[in-house]
Amino acid sequence: MTFEKLFEPIKIGDVEISNRIAMSPMNMTFSTQDGYATNQNVAWHARRAKGGFGLIITDAIIATKLAAPFVFHRNLYLHDESFIPRLNKIVEAVHHFGAKIFAQLSIGFGRQGHAIDGTQPYAPSPVPMEIPFEMLPQVLQPLAKVSPELQKQMIGPIPREMTIEEILSEEERYAEACVRAITAGFDGIEIHAPHGYLEHEFLSPRTNRRTDVYGGPLENRMRFLVEVTEHTLKAVRGVVPVGVRMSCAEHMPQGFTLDEVKVVAKKLENLGVSYFNISDGSYEALKYFFPEDMEHVENHLLKEVMELKEVLSIPIITPSIHDPVVAERAISEGITDIASLGRQAIAEPDWPNKIKEGKVDKIRRCNRCWQCLMRCMVGLYPRCAVNPEAGFEEHESELFPEKRKGAVMPAKYLQHQATGK
Ligand SMILES: Cc1cc2nc3c(=O)[nH]c(=O)nc-3n(C[C@H](O)[C@H](O)[C@H](O)COP(=O)(O)O)c2cc1C
Repeated sequence: MTFEKLFEPIKIGDVEISNRIAMSPMNMTFSTQDGYATNQNVAWHARRAKGGFGLIITDAIIATKLAAPFVFHRNLYLHDESFIPRLNKIVEAVHHFGAKIFAQLSIGFGRQGHAIDGTQPYAPSPVPMEIPFEMLPQVLQPLAKVSPELQKQMIGPIPREMTIEEILSEEERYAEACVRAITAGFDGIEIHAPHGYLEHEFLSPRTNRRTDVYGGPLENRMRFLVEVTEHTLKAVRGVVPVGVRMSCAEHMPQGFTLDEVKVVAKKLENLGVSYFNISDGSYEALKYFFPEDMEHVENHLLKEVMELKEVLSIPIITPSIHDPVVAERAISEGITDIASLGRQAIAEPDWPNKIKEGKVDKIRRCNRCWQCLMRCMVGLYPRCAVNPEAGFEEHESELFPEKRKGAVMPAKYLQHQATGK
C-alpha cells in the first residue's frame, strides 16, 4: 500500500503544513510546578517533529491566572509574559525539524478542577463532576476499586457559579494570552473547548443550569465559547490561524449531542475559525475521551466527522487513528483532512517517518495500557510500556537547536496594531 495522501501538504489559514499527520495535544505534565516549560517539554515536542509529524499541537496551556490553581499537578501556563521565552524554546526546536506548531490554550478546568490547596473550583453552575464506574475503560476498573488516589479524582468538589463579571474578564484575559502565544512564535492557536472543561460545561445542559444570558437555549449555552472565539480572533488579527477543539458529543444524561455541535461548529466557522479539531466525551464519559479497544479505536469518530463535513468547509483534524492504513483511507476518501495521534505518538515518535520509509511493520503500536495518562493523573511523569525512551527525550542533545532567534512579536502583528486593522 502507498501512503501518498498522508504526505500531501495542506494549508490551515496561511500556514502550510508538510503532511496530514498531527500530534494531538497532550499535557504530559513535564512543566515546572509553577507552569514554565522545561527542557523535557522542549525535547518532547521536538522529538515528534524530528519523527516527521507535520503539525504539533501543544499541551493545553492554561491561559488565565484564575484557572491556574486547578490543574493536575503540573501544567504549562501563559497568564503573563514571563512564560513566553521558554515556550519560544519549544517553538524553535519544533521549527528546526520543519514542523509547524500550534498552541492549544485552555480557559480552565471548570468543575473538573481539583485545587491542591482546596480552593473551590468555579463553573457555569454548582454541579459537581462524578465519573460513573461503568464509564471507566475496562482496564482501569480493577484499579479504581483499590486506589484511593484514583477514587478521589473520580468525584469533584461542588463548584461555585461564575459571575458575569468573571465570565467577561476571563474572555479578555484569554485573548491576551493568545497574543502572548504569537510573541512566543506559535504558528497557530487552538481554543481548547472539549472533554468537559469550562467551555464544554457552558455548552452542556447537564452542567449549565444558569438562568441568565449564558444558560438555557443553545444560543445562550454557546455564548461563552462564541465570545471567547470573537475576542481571540479580534486580538490575533488574522496573523495566525485560530482553530477550536470540541467533543462531538457528551454521552451522558442531558448532555449535548452531535446535532448541537454541528450548529456550534458552523457558527464558529462563520466567525472566522480556520479549522476544527474533533474529540469526544469528557472526564465523566472517559471511555469516549480515550477509546480503549483496538477495534473501536481504528474507526473512532470517523462517522461523526463525516456528519460534520456536511456542514463545515474548514479542515478537520481527527484523533485516534493509530493505523496508517485507516489514516490514509480516511484522508483519501475525504472523511478527514488531518489524522492526529495521541498515545500512538507517545509510543512511536517516528510514526510518519517509518511510513514514509516503507517500514510500517516496524511501528511500535500503542497497546492502550493507560500508563501514560494514569501516571500524569497521580502526579508522576508519564512512561510508555512500549517506548522506554518516552519521557527521557531531554537527554538527546540534537533536539536542541544551537542557533535561536528568540521571542519577538512578528512584524505583521505590529503592522496590524499600528494601522488598527
Ligand atoms: C497524557 C495525555 C494528556 C492529554 N492531554 C490533552 C490536552 O492537554 N488537551 C487535549 O485536547 N487533549 C488531551 N489529551 C487527549 C488526546 O489529545 C487524544 O484526544 C486522546 O488521547 C485520544 O487519542 P489517542 O487514541 O490517539 O490517544 C491527552 C491524552 C493523553 C494520553
